[in-house]
Amino acid sequence: CAVRHYKFDVVMKNTTRLCSSKPIVTVNGKFPGPTLYAREDDTVLVRVVNHVKYNVSIHWHGVRQLRTGWADGPAYITQCPIPTGQSYVYNFTITGQRGTLLWHAHILWLRSTVHGAIVILPKRGVPYPFPKPHKEAVVVLGEWWKSDTEAVINEALKSGLAPNVSDAHTINGHPGPISSCPSQRGFTLAVENGKTYLLRLINAALNEELFFKIAGHKLTVVEVDATYVKPFKIDTVVIAPGQTTNVLLSADQSSGKYLVAASPFMDAPVAVDNLTATATVHYSGTLANTPTTLTAPPPKNATAVANNFINSLRALNSKQFPALVPQTIDHNLYFTVGLGINPCPTCKAGNGSRVVASVNNVTFTMPTTALLQAHFFNISGVFTTDFPANPPHKFNYSGTPPTNLQTTTGTKVFRLAYNSTVQLVLQDTGIIAPENHPVHLHGFNFFTVGKGLGNYNPKTDPQNFNLVDPVERNTIGVPAGGWVAIRFRADNPGVWFMHCHLEVHTTWGLKMAFLVENGKGPNQSLVPPPSDLPKC
Ligand code: C2O
Repeated sequence: CAVRHYKFDVVMKNTTRLCSSKPIVTVNGKFPGPTLYAREDDTVLVRVVNHVKYNVSIHWHGVRQLRTGWADGPAYITQCPIPTGQSYVYNFTITGQRGTLLWHAHILWLRSTVHGAIVILPKRGVPYPFPKPHKEAVVVLGEWWKSDTEAVINEALKSGLAPNVSDAHTINGHPGPISSCPSQRGFTLAVENGKTYLLRLINAALNEELFFKIAGHKLTVVEVDATYVKPFKIDTVVIAPGQTTNVLLSADQSSGKYLVAASPFMDAPVAVDNLTATATVHYSGTLANTPTTLTAPPPKNATAVANNFINSLRALNSKQFPALVPQTIDHNLYFTVGLGINPCPTCKAGNGSRVVASVNNVTFTMPTTALLQAHFFNISGVFTTDFPANPPHKFNYSGTPPTNLQTTTGTKVFRLAYNSTVQLVLQDTGIIAPENHPVHLHGFNFFTVGKGLGNYNPKTDPQNFNLVDPVERNTIGVPAGGWVAIRFRADNPGVWFMHCHLEVHTTWGLKMAFLVENGKGPNQSLVPPPSDLPKC
């Protein structure tokens, strides 16, 4: 295994999309940012230098960070942010993972433009558990705003209302050939008839779940969130912010150009950016003036199309890559996730109230000292350990809002003993509207053992859980008006954030943290912080 060195200069860069320009925060001047390549077992050192006016931190989304929480990146959770003019070296080892992940800024709304791919190749000499592709391509899906995204969220926080949606979706940074500004032609994947391509799909959008499809071609899904799955063929992939999906594309047409489409998936009556981002698959030998074969994206509320993909996912569970699903549970947790309304006397547009979000009726308050530092150095008064294992008011999902939408606030964490096993049921409240929440857990992969609609029933639902080959992920959609059950082993000491990966919901407070204690054996403790760890 090797040591890989990267330098990420966070710089402003004037960037033109949709026929207009604005300065954006970037890594090394690129949108999307550079791809980070490593092999399983490699150590990665990324020196991040902050040249912009904002405080910055970078998260390596899905990297397990075994005992190295100091390199995880969420601002005020595992580190204080990097101030203007300063730098920090993220130092971590890739352990037991291979596949596609993403990195992104983890402070304010900077991840709208500060994001990129992480490609983890298998150990040298270890083949993929599927036919070797002729070539590979990273396909980053995202959003583009004509206005400054910090202004978008600040405006929303002032009013108490929902923020504006983006002005376009993007594929590798471009809205594509079919857009309101077609002069920028967008991403083109050049293919040869008879060859197979591995596409590493990443949803780096702030607030939009996306459908992905290619005209005239089926896709073979082989991996999600850097874990192998049993391969299956499908027309349309659905991918939530923070999730990744590897698919094989066989170039089985003789020639031609085929449209690639990324369009929104939203099964709640809330505003989305309705525009479809496009790109082109171009067969070699095809004449330039050949018309592109088009495809119609699914309607935005095509829940059946999304479920067809989601319900097909199974862990590969081979001898070499077994699914190590915890068969017993030490902590049986039930968390409600959803939106609510709190009073806000200054919110004029919101009529004296504001939208908030919560987990078990707690709207998480960001601390001003990083939780991991407070934990490691025993600084009191930063957080409390009374995060409830169940909602304080018994929750009953009936599809109609209960009368009390209000939440309490606090910086509460849930404490887990080292190596304890956790079953966590995440129940969508649908109080304002049933809405799919893609919940991301830092520091762990988990197994998705069950899901359903309506209320979770603790007596009958576990009888149907899949404890054999459930898909292993780091980000899971809690179904609109339903629940999902996950299991994981708390084998990673530290403080680990869990939140909805729709950035607007994170901002509103749909977040909490687990505190995993050190074990007693060797190599069961959080390592000490690096000397260049930023101070608050
Ligand atoms: Cu990709 Cu805490 O996020």
